[in-house]
Amino acid sequence: MPVDFEKITSLAKRRGFFFQGSEVYGGLNGTWDFGPLGVELLKNVKAAWWRAMVQLRDDIVGLDSAILLNPEVWRASGHLENFTDPLVDCKECKMRWRADHLEGDRCPNCGGELTEPRRFNLMFKTFVGPVEGDAAVVYLRPETAQGIFVDFKAVQGTTRKRLPFGIAQQGKSFRNEISPGNSIFRSREFEQMECEYFVRPEAAEDTYRAWIKERHDWYLGLGMKGENLRLREHDKEELSHYSAGTTDVEFLYPWGWGELEGIANRTDFDLRQHSQFSGKDLSYVDESTGEKFFPYVIEPAAGATRATLAFMCDAYDEAEVNGERRTFLRLHKDLAPYKVAVLPLSKKENLTALSRQVEKSLRPHFMITYDETQSIGKRYARQDEIGTPYCVTVDFDSLEDHAVTIRERDSMAQERVPIAELAPALRDKLSD
Ligand code: GAP
Repeated sequence: MPVDFEKITSLAKRRGFFFQGSEVYGGLNGTWDFGPLGVELLKNVKAAWWRAMVQLRDDIVGLDSAILLNPEVWRASGHLENFTDPLVDCKECKMRWRADHLEGDRCPNCGGELTEPRRFNLMFKTFVGPVEGDAAVVYLRPETAQGIFVDFKAVQGTTRKRLPFGIAQQGKSFRNEISPGNSIFRSREFEQMECEYFVRPEAAEDTYRAWIKERHDWYLGLGMKGENLRLREHDKEELSHYSAGTTDVEFLYPWGWGELEGIANRTDFDLRQHSQFSGKDLSYVDESTGEKFFPYVIEPAAGATRATLAFMCDAYDEAEVNGERRTFLRLHKDLAPYKVAVLPLSKKENLTALSRQVEKSLRPHFMITYDETQSIGKRYARQDEIGTPYCVTVDFDSLEDHAVTIRERDSMAQERVPIAELAPALRDKLSD
């Protein structure tokens, strides 16, 4: 059973994971800010992806390209012409809708008559330099992928990578969505994690299938429940203009199944287009045979902000503890915003001093939080709710035996550990 979405958004707001952007001015639709806990979770999602995709592999390298690109890039990629959604207006209440998201042919808000659909380009326009003329128009990138294609030669030339190899990039993308919604699921400014994996054309189909499995397994490896994930292959009509095949990794969101990541076989479309439009040859030469060709591209394209939401929904749990209904965020240890909370049993001065020493000794090793307010039960509950895997309690016995108690979030099991062995003990637990 998916969690009630209201519980996720209220937890997100109450504890500072994410909230409406520019809220004091009434917000700006489709923009979200990540608070102190959310930014840690988001960074951990991105770090886990970067580690799996770049640092643990010899065949993928990283890139951080500019958000503003030469506008010709979007002409060549087909985005100027094809990156559109069908927009309809209600003639009565004036609300705007994406025609392909509507079930009937009348306005879902008031039942009014709708206009004929018209194509609406999703790219945000702005200007470079002080003069706002047509010649100065540029677009905020709607995907990180194109920065990779236009840098293909530069990266391949400097790294001397041979096929098959990939280029990975994370960063902000912008889409002027007609109807942003479900909080950070569909926003106008969001973060992507994309890899363009270049292969010989004849290897494309097998590589495409292998990446679907690889990416599905990545989510499972970070604790996502198998029953909340499924794969869905696009039918012909649904395919993007560049794709010969796309499969979505879907997640069971509170409102139903929806896209989490797409894996596409982009063929040689992008490198060919950029070669033609730029006049620069972006083909690849096989050094052993001298053969020259455009590689095919398999693209696993994930949303970092959307994945953050999915991990939160998946980890959300409620359980009865001592007759009280409590919330748990059972996040994987690698994703949890805080790894360890240091909790003195009381605010008495001698305990505070020892607790601060413990905190100081752990802080260089782990993301730590320190909390001495309210009862110890309430503080455990607060840590469980934000997903902290371990609490370290310093009590009056600690002053005598120089040991503290480690409490684990999910089992609530407690273990006494000498302070001198605390950091290595926690490191072992966190790297399990
Ligand atoms: N380069 C291919 C590409 O951009 P996409 O399916 O349009 O493909 C990839 O986007 C991923 O980016 C999606 O699976 C989703 O996770 C994320 N994404 C796309 N639009 C988004 C939006 N408006 N808000 C949040 N995430 C979004």
